[in-house]
Amino acid sequence: MKLDTEAIKSEAKEMLEKSGEPGSLAEWHSKYLGKKGILRTLTSDVSDLAVEEKKELGRKVNELKSYLEEAYAGSLNSVTSIKKDKPLENFYKTLPGKKPEIGHLHLITQAIREINEVFSKLGFIRVRYPEVEWDYYSFEALNMPKTHPARDEWETFFIDLPEDPKLGKVVITPHTSNGQIREMLKGNLPIRMLNISRCGRRQSDINHVPTFYQFEGLVVDKNISITHLKGVLEYLIYNFFGKDTKFRLRPYDFRFTEPSFEVDVTCGICGGKGCRFCKEGWVELGGAGMVHPNVLKAGGIDPEVYSGFAFGWGVERVLMMRTGLKIDDIRYLFENNLKFLEQF
Ligand code: DAH
Repeated sequence: MKLDTEAIKSEAKEMLEKSGEPGSLAEWHSKYLGKKGILRTLTSDVSDLAVEEKKELGRKVNELKSYLEEAYAGSLNSVTSIKKDKPLENFYKTLPGKKPEIGHLHLITQAIREINEVFSKLGFIRVRYPEVEWDYYSFEALNMPKTHPARDEWETFFIDLPEDPKLGKVVITPHTSNGQIREMLKGNLPIRMLNISRCGRRQSDINHVPTFYQFEGLVVDKNISITHLKGVLEYLIYNFFGKDTKFRLRPYDFRFTEPSFEVDVTCGICGGKGCRFCKEGWVELGGAGMVHPNVLKAGGIDPEVYSGFAFGWGVERVLMMRTGLKIDDIRYLFENNLKFLEQF
C-alpha cells in the first residue's frame, strides 16, 4: 500500500487556510476527521495489512492524525474567538459551549459553618484563639501541672523556640481548651463561647490525623449546672445528626472538668449496629464536663460565685458521624482528592 501523508497534509492545510467560514470548517472536518473521512478510511485500511507494513504505515497515519487534529483545533479557536473589531461576525452559534466548573466549599468548612450556626441560635459567640500557643494556656492553667501523666494523652508537637519563664514552651495547641482560659481572662461575664480552631497531635490512623479541627464550648454564669450542659449537647446532636441519633454521657476523667464525661452517639455509619469504624455501635464524639474550680481561678473567676460547663469535640469526627455521609476513614477529608470531594 502506498501512502503519501505529506500530500494529504498539504492539501488539508490549503483547504483550511481558505476556509474562513464556520460552515466550510465543518465541511473540512467531515472530509478529514469525520466518520467517513480520510483518516478513518486510512486507519481501517492499515489494520488489514501484514505486521511489518502495518508498523510503518500505522506510524504515518498516527502522525497524520495528530497533525489534522491540531490544525483543526487551531482553526476552530480562531473562528470561534470573537474579534474585537467585528464582534459576533465569526461567532459559531451552534458550537456547544464550555461548561463552567463550579466548585463548592470543603466539607470541613461546611461543617464549621453549620456548627457555628447551630450554636449561634443559642447565643454562643464564635471566637478564635492562637493555634501556636504557650504550654501555660494549653495545659498548666487547665489544671495539668508540668509533670502530670495526663499530659501524655495529648500527644503534643513542641516548637523549637525559647521557653518563657512563666508561660513555658511553645506548642501547637493539641486542643481548643486553651480558649477557655483566654476567654475567661478577657473578664466579660457571663460567657457563652464557641472556639473553633485547628489543633495538632502526633497521631495518624483511620480515626486520627496530625492536624484536625475542634470546637470548644464554654458557658460560665451563676447557677450553671449539668442540666444546662445536657440540654445544649442535646440541641447540637438533634440539630446536626437528626432526632434518631441517641447519645449518652459516660463518666470520664479530665483534669479541667469535674465531673467529666465522654459523649457518645450511635454510629452514623452503621446506625448503631456495629461496624469496622465503631466496633460496638457507639462512637465517642468528645469530652465535656463542669469547669474545674482551679480552671475558673486561673481564668480570674471566683468559683464560689460562678460555675460553668465546657465541651470540646472534633469537627471531622462530628462530620463523619453524620447520618448518610458514611465516611469511614478521617484521612479522606485531607487528601484533597477531587473525585472524593466532588461527591458532596
Ligand atoms: N480538650 C479535650 C480533648 O481534646 C476535650 C474536652 C474534654 C474539652 C472536656 C472540654 C471538656 O472542654 O470539658 O480531648
